[in-house]
Amino acid sequence: MGKIGCFGTLIIGLLAFVGSTEAQLTMGFYDNSCPKAEKIVQDFVNQHIHNAPSLAATFLRMHFHDCFVRGCDASVLLNTTSGEQPEKAATPNLTLRGFDFIDRVKSLVEAECPGIVSCADILTLVARDSIVATGGPSWRVPTGRRDGLISKFSEAMSNIPPPSSNFTSLQTVFSNQGLDLKDLVVLSGAHTIGLAHCSSFSNRLYNFTGIGDQDPALDAEYATNLKAKKCKSINDNTTKVEMDPGSRKTFDLSYYTLLLKRRGLFESDAALTTTSNTLATINQLLQGSLDFYSEFSMSMEKMGRNNVKTGSDGEIRKQCALVNS
Ligand code: HEM
Ligand SMILES: *[C@@H]1O[C@H](CO)[C@@H](O)[C@H](O)[C@H]1NC(C)=O
Ligand SMILES: *[C@@H]1O[C@H](CO)[C@@H](O)[C@H](O)[C@H]1NC(C)=O
Ligand SMILES: *[C@@H]1O[C@H](CO)[C@@H](O)[C@H](O)[C@H]1NC(C)=O
Ligand SMILES: *[C@@H]1O[C@H](CO)[C@@H](O)[C@H](O)[C@H]1NC(C)=O
Ligand SMILES: *[C@@H]1O[C@H](CO)[C@@H](O)[C@H](O)[C@H]1NC(C)=O
Repeated sequence: MGKIGCFGTLIIGLLAFVGSTEAQLTMGFYDNSCPKAEKIVQDFVNQHIHNAPSLAATFLRMHFHDCFVRGCDASVLLNTTSGEQPEKAATPNLTLRGFDFIDRVKSLVEAECPGIVSCADILTLVARDSIVATGGPSWRVPTGRRDGLISKFSEAMSNIPPPSSNFTSLQTVFSNQGLDLKDLVVLSGAHTIGLAHCSSFSNRLYNFTGIGDQDPALDAEYATNLKAKKCKSINDNTTKVEMDPGSRKTFDLSYYTLLLKRRGLFESDAALTTTSNTLATINQLLQGSLDFYSEFSMSMEKMGRNNVKTGSDGEIRKQCALVNS
């Protein structure tokens, strides 16, 4: 072998070495190992999401929660792993309705190729495919995520921002995930669909600073209406409210329009209008100089890549609620 050939082999060898130790997500990761996987997921979603279209919002939120704790590794799907309560416990009812759905997709994929496709990729694909199937934006989902072994209540509590978050804490939790202020504004746009329980924001209506007051940052007329028609007491923890009234099934810009009318439902929504940087992004989205769907796609792909387990980290779970024994 000549010097150049030998050098070339060395380079290829080095690249392969780097590739194996720093495995990355790739588009079509299962193209050889389970070529039908992505199609099985998509077909199932297309066939079944219309029976329960509100699940699309639930899956999007579940995916967000999964990604913010230990990277998108399906830790949100686990039942208890150690002594501590799992992440699930921190987000009451978030996963309840969605579980069976994910489990059914997983068993179809397992029947096709056992032990190949992670629950983390399945959840990521289901989130994307159900938003697409219900008329929302699409985004690229590179695959190759591996499933985590650990799920802790306390980690969910510290990584997932509560609805009472102010701007500073939102900026911090997002930047801990490698997400910037534009990602924060754009991803919060997911609140253009779906529902929230009164208990997630009723302190703004009834007891904002502990003296029986209302949050002055919330439009007074809107607050009055919510109190009269939806959240009739501060103790109501069952009634659900559209975050984007009248348009909660449509993935559109109206969430941002509401923010400017001081009708964002959570303090975290309202917080986005409190800095000139994020306010400028909101206005660009509304004016179209930033395209909501393209921006949302980019930020979703970014969120879905951060801190994931690849290569030989983690495992491919057999059942999404349990680590392999
Ligand atoms: C910026 C910080 C965020 C906070 C504080 C926050 C908080 C919340 C809260 C409290 C709810 C209502 C839960 C309930 O009462 O049942 C909710 C719903 C929702 N969130 Fe967020 N969220 C944030 C960001 C995101 C992101 C990044 C996404 C996805 C990209 C997202 C997607 C959703 C969706 C789709 C729903 C509706 C769920 C359903 O209808 O089942 N959120 N969020
Ligand atoms: C996980 O926990 C849920 C709720 O407690 C239960 O319904 C489900 O059967 C459990 N899954 C497994 C595989 O143990
Ligand atoms: C924002 O919230 C955090 C956490 O609750 C708190 O420590 C901080 O003082 C708040 N910052 C402002 C500017 O209110
Ligand atoms: C309002 O908040 C204060 C301080 O946290 C608390 O003592 C009071 O019981 C609350 N009132 C209601 C109606 O929940
Ligand atoms: C909801 O409120 C009822 C009555 O106030 C209470 O018994 C129940 O524990 C609450 N549930 C949750 C999840 O907070
Ligand atoms: C959770 O779901 C149960 C059963 O659907 C319901 O009774 C309960 O009020 C829900 N709790 C919350 C906090 O949404």
